[in-house]
Parts: sequence; C-alpha cells; structure tokens
Amino acid sequence: MTDSRPLDRVLVAGASGATGEELLSVLRPTDLTVRATTRSYGNVDTLERHGADEVVVADFFDSGDAVAAVEDCDLVCCALGSPPCLRHLTGGKLVDRTGAINLTTAAVAEGVSYVVLESAIGVGDSKAGLSLPARLALRGVRRAKRDAEAALRRSGLGYTIVRPGRLTDDPPSGDVVVGQGGDSVTGSIPRADVARIMAAAPFTPDARNRTFEIVSRDGLSGTPHHRVDIDWADDILTARHGHRHA
Ligand SMILES: NC(=O)c1ccc[n+]([C@@H]2O[C@H](COP(=O)([O-])OP(=O)(O)OC[C@H]3O[C@@H](n4cnc5c(N)ncnc54)[C@H](OP(=O)(O)O)[C@@H]3O)[C@@H](O)[C@H]2O)c1
Repeated sequence: MTDSRPLDRVLVAGASGATGEELLSVLRPTDLTVRATTRSYGNVDTLERHGADEVVVADFFDSGDAVAAVEDCDLVCCALGSPPCLRHLTGGKLVDRTGAINLTTAAVAEGVSYVVLESAIGVGDSKAGLSLPARLALRGVRRAKRDAEAALRRSGLGYTIVRPGRLTDDPPSGDVVVGQGGDSVTGSIPRADVARIMAAAPFTPDARNRTFEIVSRDGLSGTPHHRVDIDWADDILTARHGHRHA
C-alpha cells in the first residue's frame, strides 16, 4: 500500500460463500476488523462463528445496501458470485455485474483505499483459458464479470483483480502459479489459496492495479505462459496477528 491511511476495517462481500468463508479464516487471526456480508439473517451466527467481527445483511443489487456495507471500511474483498443458472449463458441481471459495480461505486464514495475483486479465468482477455464449450456456457456471466472488472479499473481506486481457475475446496496448497495478460495459466485452485492471495494483495505493492490469472501448481493444466513472480505479503498478515483475537 502506498496510502498512508491506517487500514483497520475490511469488508468481505459474499462472506457466506465458499471463498468468503476461507477469507474469514485467513483474516480472523489479524488485527483487522472484519465485516462480513450475506443476504440472509439466518447466516449471521455462522459468520460470527467463522470470525466476522461485524455482519451486514445486504443485497448488492440494491445500491443503498452497498453504501451501508462499505461505510467506514478501508479495504474491500469482493467474493460475490451468482450460483449456476441460465443467466450464466444468456446474461441479464447478475450480481457478478450489477452487485460488483454497486460495490465499486460505493467504495469510491466512501474513500476506500483498496478493492480486491475475485473474477475468473475465462473473463476478458483470459478467455483462451476455458474450453470452447465452457466459454459458450458461461458467456453471460463472463461478460458480467468483464464489465465489473472494467468498472473497477476505471474507478480510480487501488485494486487487484484475481482470476482463479476452477475452484476446489481442497486444503491450501501454498504454491500458486500466477500469470498476467490473459492467455497465461489455466487449471484449478483451492479457494483457500485464492483467499490468502486476496487478503495479501492490498499489502503487496507489486499487485497494485494489476489483473492476474491464478491456479495452484498441482492444478495447472498445459504449459503456463506470461508467468509473473509476485512476492505476496503473507508476512504482513502474520505480522498483524493476534492483537485482538489472541
Ligand atoms: N466455481 C468456480 O469454479 C469458479 C471459478 C472461478 C471463479 N469463480 C468465481 O469466484 C467467486 C466466488 O465463488 P464461490 O463459489 O466461492 O462463491 P459462492 O459460494 O457461490 O458464494 C457467492 C456469494 O455471493 C453472495 N451473493 C450472491 N448474490 C448476492 C446478492 N445479490 N447480494 C449479496 N450477496 C450475494 C452469496 O451470498 P448469500 O449467502 O446471500 O447467498 C455468497 O456469499 C464467484 O464470483 C465465482 O463466479 C468461480
């Protein structure tokens, strides 16, 4: 981070999802105040058990909910996504576009320091990372995510966009292959690895205002191109350990 503002409160948008839950466990031991979101009051207790200090019930289709969710936040990690549905093919109203853009707009208005967006391999210039059938089946959601990525890039906010390959619930591998420029790497990656990278990105100067494709070394398919070496600031998350939650 080049910003000198202290980074105290992080919003995990989509904390009730599978990547969101991993983000909570990565952030839980740090001294950041972690605010989690879900659309369901029924998830509040679970999110608190998973380490959220605050829970906001918000539907990001509603721009007012987005504004309330980011209030007083310094960092945003966006793990929003729509479950498999016909709109992944046809497009239309998807949280991957409308919700993520509402979040970016609210983050600009709030003066948030940094936003990390979970996108996907297959979006924008990374379309070659998906097979043709998958590309077609996901055409609508890929376009939605492309628009969300574009809105974040032009927002003026500090950002990192991570485009993971196919997500798994495997334990973290700790060995992630990073590419940049679209047609770089393809394969799969545990959500736990994605979460570590998302949490470290705001503290990693090399990651600022860049878009990465990421897979785990074990999950890599084919030959990687345009690899980049990023020294992810995991140590900063470790150094921030324990001040509140010890
Ligand atoms: N599946 C894959 O292989 C794959 C590969 C690459 C990238 N991705 C992307 O990675 C991201 C995370 O995927 P995941 O499978 O870990 O997540 P997930 O389990 O599908 O969770 C999605 C989250 O989005 C929230 N959400 C959905 N609609 C919302 C709305 N209108 N307002 C507020 N919150 C809303 C859900 O909250 P509720 O509790 O309220 O439902 C949930 O917390 C997604 O963007 C996905 O497209 C997926």
